[in-house]
This record gives sequence, C-alpha cells and structure tokens, in this order.
Amino acid sequence: MKIIETIAEMKAARLKLKGSVGFVPTMGYLHEGHLSLVRKAGEENKSVVVSIYVNPTQFAPTEDLSKYPRDLNRDLSMLEKEGTDIVFFPSDKEIYPQGYDTWVTVDKLTKPLEGSSRPTHFRGVTTIVNKLFNIVRPDNTYFGQKDAQQALVIKKMAKDLDMNLKVVVCPTVREPDGLAMSSRNVYLTPEQRKGAPVLYKSLMLAKDLFSHGERNAAVILGQMTTLIKKEPLANIDYISIADTETLEELRTIEKSALVSMAIKFGKTRLIDNLILG
Ligand code: PAF
Repeated sequence: MKIIETIAEMKAARLKLKGSVGFVPTMGYLHEGHLSLVRKAGEENKSVVVSIYVNPTQFAPTEDLSKYPRDLNRDLSMLEKEGTDIVFFPSDKEIYPQGYDTWVTVDKLTKPLEGSSRPTHFRGVTTIVNKLFNIVRPDNTYFGQKDAQQALVIKKMAKDLDMNLKVVVCPTVREPDGLAMSSRNVYLTPEQRKGAPVLYKSLMLAKDLFSHGERNAAVILGQMTTLIKKEPLANIDYISIADTETLEELRTIEKSALVSMAIKFGKTRLIDNLILG
C-alpha cells in the first residue's frame, strides 16, 4: 500500500494504474461504514484509492474541526488489511495553497436540510471532492447513504459538470442497536450513546406507518417527533420528509420519500435517513 502526500506524486501514481480505479474519499477515523465502501470499490475495480483529509472548508467556524477525531496509524492498518492500493493523505497547504480562490457550488440541492443548518458546508464538500476527483481521476467513486444529501449533491455535480465517473451510493452500516456508524459517535457520553438509537427507532416508526398505508407526511413527522422527544437528551435540529431527488418537502407521499433528520445530543449532531417506498 502506497501512502502519498503530494498532488504531483498522486497524479504520477495514477498514471501508472492500469484498469479501472475505485475511489473512496474520507476524513479518516475510519469505521465499518468506510470499510464497506472500500470493499465495494475493491469488488468493482482493479485498483482502490482512498483519501484521508479532514477538509477545513466544510466546517463552519463554530464546528468541531480542531476536535475532529484522527488516528492515522489505525486508519492505515485498517486500509492495508482491506488491500487498498493507494492512500492519499495531503496537507492543508497542499490542497489550499496561499491564494486559493476557487469554489464549486451546487445551488438548489444544497439549500434545505443539512444546508439550512450548515449553510457553508456543501460548498466545502463539493470543492474538495471536485479537487480530489481531478487529482485521482477515478472511474467509480463510493459514498455512503448515511449522508444522503451529500450523495445526491455529488451525483448532481458529477452530472452537471460532465464528469467522467460513476457515483456509487452504498447502504448505511449500523451498530447492532441501529445507530448509524459515524466518526462523530465517539463524542457521545455513555448516557447520550444509550439514547442515540432513537434516530433509528423513529425511522423504523416512519417505515411502519408507511407500510400500514399512512401517506400524510405531517402525521408521520408528528409521531416521529413525539417518539424523539421522549428521549430527554435528544434535541431535534430538523426532521424532514422530502422528495428523493429534489429534496423539496412533501405533504403527501406519492411513491417514495426521503425521511431524514439531524438530532443533537449535547454538542454532537447525529444524522440519519431512510427511503420510504
Ligand atoms: O463524507 C465525508 O467524509 C466528507 O464530506 C468527504 C466526502 C470526504 C469530503 O470531505
């Protein structure tokens, strides 16, 4: 497994890769969710490149950039075991040299949900992912369904900018009690961790109501809210039932819907989602 820190070396190594290249962009502190993407990339491609880069431009000044969990050695040994070919681990100076001044934005899709709570977040994500795509030039790239809006935004960017790659979205990987795996779960206190499966429970409630014929979004959201409010440590940032492609809020679910939410436990903000229909 090669570990590469500069853009020039990464581009040179890419030229030597023969056959299809699968790429998994990450911010490190890897868990089973990331590894499922790496495995899928391995199944579908000749070579696998993983980037580890905690991208400062997707964090607002009030967010947890300096505290974001990091453990490079652990990440590298996990990736080595998965048979990763190249790990790209650039520095901030390498990615955003002095005078850096170019941004990539997807407009409408980034406004609701995560975008309404974190208005500058997606501009950072699309910019870094675009740069990484230009550096790694993957044939296929792998994102998790847990960040449903991010996956949609990346797909839209790839389509609108005629990028020559396929964006593959893989299922959310969960802990045995249903909590979606996330690098941020380590911030939870033992008490908060006990309450955190309420996100999954509320999604299962939505699924159950839907499977029994409920199509009124307000009714489903109402019952989910009541359930979440029973968990004293949980504070709702948003819960939404939206169109799976445009992310516009739905009153009535016709065929399908994205049920998504952000719930805060103290300062830790957890997200989760489920597609109905
Ligand atoms: O999902 C993430 O970890 C990040 O948003 C990504 C895609 C690696 C960009 O920094």
